[in-house]
Order: sequence, then C-alpha cells, then structure tokens
Amino acid sequence: MKESSEIPGFYKLPLEERMKLVQRLTGITEEEAKTLSSTGGLPIETADRMIENVVGGITVPLGIAVNFLINGKDYLVPMALEEPSVVAAASNAAKMARMKGGFKVTNTGPMMIGQIQVVGVPDPNGAKMKLLNHREAILAKANEQDPMLVSLGGGAKDVNVRVVSSIRGPMVIAELIVNTGDAMGANAVNTMAEAVAPMVEQFTKGRVLLRIISNLADRRLVRASAVFDKDAVGGEEVVDGIVYAYAFAKADPYRCATHNKGVMNGVVAVGIACGQDTRALEAGAHSFAAKRGGYSPLTTWEENADGDLVGTLEMPMAVGLVGGASKVHPAARAAIRILGVKTATELAEVMGAVGLAQNFAALRALASEGIQRGHMKLHARNIASSVGATGKMVDIVAQRLVAERKIRMDRAKEILEELQKK
Ligand code: MEV
Repeated sequence: MKESSEIPGFYKLPLEERMKLVQRLTGITEEEAKTLSSTGGLPIETADRMIENVVGGITVPLGIAVNFLINGKDYLVPMALEEPSVVAAASNAAKMARMKGGFKVTNTGPMMIGQIQVVGVPDPNGAKMKLLNHREAILAKANEQDPMLVSLGGGAKDVNVRVVSSIRGPMVIAELIVNTGDAMGANAVNTMAEAVAPMVEQFTKGRVLLRIISNLADRRLVRASAVFDKDAVGGEEVVDGIVYAYAFAKADPYRCATHNKGVMNGVVAVGIACGQDTRALEAGAHSFAAKRGGYSPLTTWEENADGDLVGTLEMPMAVGLVGGASKVHPAARAAIRILGVKTATELAEVMGAVGLAQNFAALRALASEGIQRGHMKLHARNIASSVGATGKMVDIVAQRLVAERKIRMDRAKEILEELQKK
C-alpha cells in the first residue's frame, strides 16, 4: 500500500465505496474485490451491522462430522475450519467411541464471572466483609439490569470477593456469579458489573476501575469421557502409546500446547460453525489449563482394567444460543439447526465431546503412523489446485505427488505441465 492507512470517516462511507477505496489503495483487482464481497450465507447488510468498516466476508469450508453419539443421542456436527483431516479424524474417532456407548458429557451449568476491580481501598479485608454483608443489595442491583434473564431462571446468583496482591498493592476484586442461561453472557455480565460499580465504591470507599467478564469460565465447565476399544484403537501398543503421549503433554509445556491445540481443533471448528466467540473459548481453555500452576492437558488418557483406552476432558465452554452471531448469522443458525441442540449447555456438551474426539484422533495417529500421511493427501490436492490443476487433474497430480512423496509446488507444476503436454 502506497498511501497512509489513516482514513478518517472510513466507517461513514457506504459499503461499496469502502471497497472501492480499499481497491484503489491496495490495487486488488475487480475480481478479488468481488470474491471478498460474497459473504457465504451472510447477507452483506447483516455483516455491515455485525462489525465496523465492513467491506465483505470471508468463508471457510464447513464440513459435517458424522458418527457422534453423545449422552445417548446422535448428532451431525458442523465444523468450519481451513485445516484438512480434522473433520475426517473427528468422524473416525466418534465411530470408535460408539462401540463402547459414545461420549458421556456433563456440565456445571452456565455460570459466568463478572469482575469489578477496586483500588485505593484503605482496609481491603474490611471492605471485603462489607461487600459480602451487602450481598443481597448487590445482587438485586445486578438483577434489575436483566429482568428477562431473571424470569428464565438466570441472573446474578452470588457475590465472591477476593483481595488480590499486585505490583500496585492490594486490590479488592468483587465478583458477580451470574447464571447466563442460554447466552454466552458477556453482555449481561458486563452490564451488571457496570451497574453495581457505584454501590461497590460506596461500600469499599475505594475507586472502581475495570468492570468486565472473566474468560476463565471455571464455573462453566464441561466434563466429557469416552472408552475406546483397544482393538479398534489398534491394539495394546497403540493404547500404550497414547497414554505415553498424554504423559509427555503432562510433563512438558511445549508438547502440552500442541496437545491442547488438537482439542481446540474440534472445539473451535464447531464454535465457528455455530457463530460462537472462539477467542473467548481459547482464552478460557488455556487459562484453565494454566490455573493450577504450570500448564496442563485439557484431557487425560488411561488404560482401564480391560485394556481399553479411557479418555476424559474437562474445560470451560462459554457458548450461547441467544444474542451474538449465533442468532444473526443465517449460516450459523442453519448449522445450529443441523446440530439440533436446544440449549447452550447442550451445545457446550457437544463441543466438549468433539474436543475429546479430536484429541484422541491426533494422539492415535501420532502414536502409530504419524499424522502426515493423512494430512498430506489433502495437502497434495491443495498444492495441485494452487498450481492451476482443475477438475480431474487435481486428483491425478495429487496422487502423483503422494506416490513420489514430494508434496511440493515445484514438482506439482512440473507434473501438471507434463500432463498438459500430452
Ligand atoms: C494439528 O492441527 C494438531 C496436532 O498437532 C495435535 C497434536 O499434536 O496432538 C496433530
């Protein structure tokens, strides 16, 4: 880009004008601009209301993972992501889990935490007690903000207070514990936290600064488990290998990050398909993994008395079905209809099961043939397309690349040119 990116009033321009300006400034072609303007199941006007400075949309492939049996119910699971092999791996893992009854998942209920930071409190411990003594008044003020949520059985249920020592001295952190029902809850919780802030100042004689939800949603956990038949997994050795893989993740943060990334491949893909705030899901997952000190796997893997493999998962899952993109994005709405979940906690449970399935599939591949073989087949097709192969040619070039074990652009180009000469 040759000119400055400082564009006052960009947001005030009509949508088409915005794109024209971006085109002029960056030199993208008419065709590229047109590609961006197609918003994949999302009307451009809706997109324009969802975020700021909209010029178009970007779509990622949406696949359906099959075979999922969760708490005795069958699900077709929509997954949206750019990475090959993930949907196939989830489906395959779910098929194996079915043999021993599928996934069993429970949840702790949709409780979120809103934090109110109070600084400059002369007597932090005394202030803590005052806040707790005024629990009912604080809760009443919070609940005035969302009568609808309260009428549905949700709302602020408790007040928790902690004195946190910091580099700026002790601060009092008042926490609202809110049942957010079928909402992810950020709006409800933030509104409540802002509303009770003056009251909190009055009781503590301090100064309130931050009033915001915590993404460490450790009161909104899902707990999933599944048993995988040892023979289906690939025999004793593979079961043993998976338990070793888990031990590695538990012992080493470098491995653990990748182990948990495998879990998030499943969780985030369902999250994107269903219009969820996946940054919140990531923040919750990783802060939970680090909560006990160190950084831990979100799953565990053991061998039971029969020699079968037992996997468990425990992690925060702050998702919603009311408010946010899950309601306004037509594609997300359709994906939720495919999934057939009726409540946010049901969605959270499915996502927990998919996270566990995904982690199992990754560890099984890693503990046996490695992940590259499966990955590379699809990768080869991408490479073939990117050098210009179309139609049947994509598979022909891809097969040659895999057979030669040279999944590279230069080789793909050579093969394509050779075939085109014929
Ligand atoms: C790749 O997206 C995910 C894996 O790296 C996960 C893992 O290593 O467990 C395969």
